[in-house]
Amino acid sequence: MGNVFVLDHPLIQHKLTYIRNKETGTKEFRELVDEVAMLMAFEITRNLPLQDKTIHTPVVEAQAKVLSGKKIGLIPILRAGLGMVDGVLKLIPAAKVGHVGLYRDPETFQPVEYYIKLPSDINERELIVIDPMLATGGSANDAIHSLKKRGAENIRLMCLIAAPEGVEMIKEEHPDVDIYLGALDEKLDEKGYIVPGLGDAGDRLFGTK
Ligand code: PRP
Ligand code: URA
Repeated sequence: MGNVFVLDHPLIQHKLTYIRNKETGTKEFRELVDEVAMLMAFEITRNLPLQDKTIHTPVVEAQAKVLSGKKIGLIPILRAGLGMVDGVLKLIPAAKVGHVGLYRDPETFQPVEYYIKLPSDINERELIVIDPMLATGGSANDAIHSLKKRGAENIRLMCLIAAPEGVEMIKEEHPDVDIYLGALDEKLDEKGYIVPGLGDAGDRLFGTK
């Protein structure tokens, strides 16, 4: 069964409070999302495997550690996932980036896929699906199904804020996927917004309404 990790590092929690605040404007919102994404990436990569490497320091020959194992692929869900990509790339600059374009129908809340472009070797990579919001779970569920259909095997999901409904959907549909969250909120409202949440992540990131 996939695990759910709430990354309750004080810096993440502090910055999330400002992200949630409706008085926070577009520029600051973007900067904070970028910073939290970087901090989350630090926590998520804690368990990456290492291997020994012999190097020569200016003083002696030494055994040191380098990353081993699968390379990383980042899969932001358009549009709001884009706001977290640069923050993660600051720590994993060589990661390849694929895009899944989905929007949520405002009436039915059902995700509609309109774009997909992925690295050719996704089956050999450790993929991190990125979206600030996991609400009903429909968008992330669809994106993960799309990736699996194309051969992906190792997938994690990273979101700023989730509702219990979304977490349950991913746990049920994708028990192999670990979920990393900045916060697990109370519930969804009747419009499918996370409560207390942060409002519409895409609109707040890009200044649209
Ligand atoms: C938001 C968000 C997620 C989705 C979450 O995207 O970024 O992708 O809603 O909701 P769900 O879990 O109920 O599917 P939105 O559809 O608003 O599109 P956008 O990123 O283009 O603004
Ligand atoms: N999408 C958002 O951007 N915010 C929510 O609260 C739910 C879905």
